[in-house]
Amino acid sequence: MPANMTAFMDKTKKDANNATEQVRLEDQHGTVVAAMEGRLLYARSVQTGSPDSGLCMCQWPLDRGPSKAALPAEHDYIGTDVVKSLYPKPPPKGTHFQDQSIKEPFPSEWQETFEVVHQRLVMAAAAPKQTPGFIVQNLVKLLKPVGWLQLVEVITTPVPENPIPRNQHIDMLDSLYKNLYSGTKYAKANLMADLPWEMEKSGLRNVQQAEVLVKYGAATENLWIREKSLRTAVAGVPNFLTVLKEMPGDVWKQEWNDLPQRHHGLYKDLAESGGYMSEKDLAKVVEMRLQ
Ligand SMILES: C[S@@+](CC[C@H](N)C(=O)[O-])C[C@H]1O[C@@H](n2cnc3c(N)ncnc32)[C@H](O)[C@@H]1O
Repeated sequence: MPANMTAFMDKTKKDANNATEQVRLEDQHGTVVAAMEGRLLYARSVQTGSPDSGLCMCQWPLDRGPSKAALPAEHDYIGTDVVKSLYPKPPPKGTHFQDQSIKEPFPSEWQETFEVVHQRLVMAAAAPKQTPGFIVQNLVKLLKPVGWLQLVEVITTPVPENPIPRNQHIDMLDSLYKNLYSGTKYAKANLMADLPWEMEKSGLRNVQQAEVLVKYGAATENLWIREKSLRTAVAGVPNFLTVLKEMPGDVWKQEWNDLPQRHHGLYKDLAESGGYMSEKDLAKVVEMRLQ
């Protein structure tokens, strides 16, 4: 059976029962939120803090630690994931966590009840069982007639100005996404770039896209974010490579052999001279460009 993101999750579970993965995700969260200038959700109702009646479904870490100001506390949130140990303890105020796979239909009592649904960097977990189109439709069904879906994913087009290891990381993610859907029409470069189209196909109107450039290392002003951005830039690489290693055929590229080591070199470069990873905020579709 072709490898999928289960191989990634098996590895992070084996590595200290996800404790290291949790740090990586918290660092990633801080880095991304800083790049979005604390504006975690782009939905106007959430920004103004005045939804008709607040119920938002969001992927788990939506608000942890110092970024708490990003979300008004008066809303009720449901956070979902499939790994219990990743839920923040104690949960942020107004937040309830529930196990729910994006690959399965959501509970019938949730249908058409949410003002806002937010999913970030989870799309790859759907493959190969479900297509991006299924996932988008599954999420759209949760929205009230006037609701807002925000998806955040990574742009996987290399950036000419990037240091070589950074572009190799982008290429690695692009290969991963593509090969998750090997042999289907979804086996294509920059797969997540089609999400706005999938959203329109699912009946959403006013689909907008925004691109967010995520700053790393010396490119960030805040020292706390600088440290987080450096850690998260390198931490996921061995886990992604685990999935690619298990993929059949000629997926593996020689240049990935020592990528983890070279990423530690990149850590030094980023710390000294800075760098960027661009996150494109999709409708909202947000994609991330790794720079
Ligand atoms: C890259 S992390 C992103 C976490 C979080 N959404 C964020 O942006 O910080 C991917 C997350 O997807 C979760 N995940 C994996 N398979 C899933 C599934 N089938 N349904 C829902 N979540 C899943 C993982 O446990 C992990 O927390």
